[in-house]
Amino acid sequence: MSTATGPRVVLGVAGGIAAYKACEVLRRLTESGHLVRVVPTESALNFVGAATFEALSGQPVRTGVFADVPEVPHVRLGQQAEVAVVAPATADLMARLAQGRADDLLTATLLTARCPVLLAPAMHTEMWEHPATRDNVALLRSRGVVVAEPASGRLTGADTGPGRLPEPSEIVELARLLLERADALPRDLVGRRVVVSAGGTREPLDPVRFLGNRSSGRQGYALARVAAQRGAEVVLVSAHTADLAAPAAVRVCRAGTADQLRSAVLAEAEGADVVVMAAAVADFRPDSLSEHKIKKSGSGPPTVTLATNPDILAELVRLRPVGQMVVGFAAETGDDTGGVLDHARVKLARKGCDLLVANAVGEGMAFEQPDNAGWILAADGTEIELPHGSKALLASRVWDEVAARLP
Ligand code: CTP
Repeated sequence: MSTATGPRVVLGVAGGIAAYKACEVLRRLTESGHLVRVVPTESALNFVGAATFEALSGQPVRTGVFADVPEVPHVRLGQQAEVAVVAPATADLMARLAQGRADDLLTATLLTARCPVLLAPAMHTEMWEHPATRDNVALLRSRGVVVAEPASGRLTGADTGPGRLPEPSEIVELARLLLERADALPRDLVGRRVVVSAGGTREPLDPVRFLGNRSSGRQGYALARVAAQRGAEVVLVSAHTADLAAPAAVRVCRAGTADQLRSAVLAEAEGADVVVMAAAVADFRPDSLSEHKIKKSGSGPPTVTLATNPDILAELVRLRPVGQMVVGFAAETGDDTGGVLDHARVKLARKGCDLLVANAVGEGMAFEQPDNAGWILAADGTEIELPHGSKALLASRVWDEVAARLP
């Protein structure tokens, strides 16, 4: 039996080949302390056996409402859950939920649940795009159910297209976000085009060395992921990052240096409603790139002279069309002249962007961490403190402020 004391999660699993990925979702949830009850459909058990879910969750696994009748599980599980996640959610399961059916333990549980519900769809593109599924998704969303955008890519067999289950890490990140946010994730960016830059640029010195920084890209990826799940069309301009899964329903373009990032961001910014500069752009680059590896020589270490990189954020502000919002980031340490917030206020005024997200960085803070905290400063004088939480939560707060200000 599991002794977890963290949030209670119902993990529904419907009958699709992606059911095997539910094991990874389950493992990630239990490892971070959640108490998970897996509720598969009968057909899900054709793909993954009940024993696997029982062993990984430390909890019994049932599919029907006639097991453990004295405990009334079809009511109790839903009532006690703090978040319910269904991964994968098939077209059939969503159709049954949209109809309010309660013909197995999973649908009955979801009918009694009053907690946030996250469905992670997985099906063939034709099924995802069928008007019946579109209508069911729209209906479920109108009732506050979070139906995640599926990823695009390889499906069962040789097919590719939208309909792939989002990565297990993304599903868990979204589930945590729903636990952290008091309300459901709004679809308030539908019809909006947003560009997000992320990661750290690398400025080459010779074929094997570069000037870089410690940005993992996690905050930028979370911004892109949450925007896509709020309905936006998202382009993620990604510099170097930790090993991160590409967010579902996001177009990713790669950039290595500040100069490449600048070209990509300026090109994508045309026609965008919002541009968010979360990338850690190197302010300087070696002013010449050695064609060959620089060798040790008897005359001591080489002198590296630096050239200044263009300030992309300043350029975006200068070039922005009417109505486009530009969001900057400020990773600050504070010093003798002021704290993080003092520096951030000066930076907001200097950069001229609409919003500036400021956070304290340093050993054990922000860089390479799953969590973040900070402030959102707006050009209209609003200052919002962001308490400690996941990077997806901070991203979600940023989109709240953006959505409230979009024309
Ligand atoms: N930025 C940019 N181009 C650069 C440097 C930074 O677009 N060459 C953007 C970052 O993506 C971020 C914001 O500017 O959104 C602030 O970055 P930061 O490095 O904190 O600002 P700097 O202007 O470089 O100021 P500082 O002197 O504090 O480094």
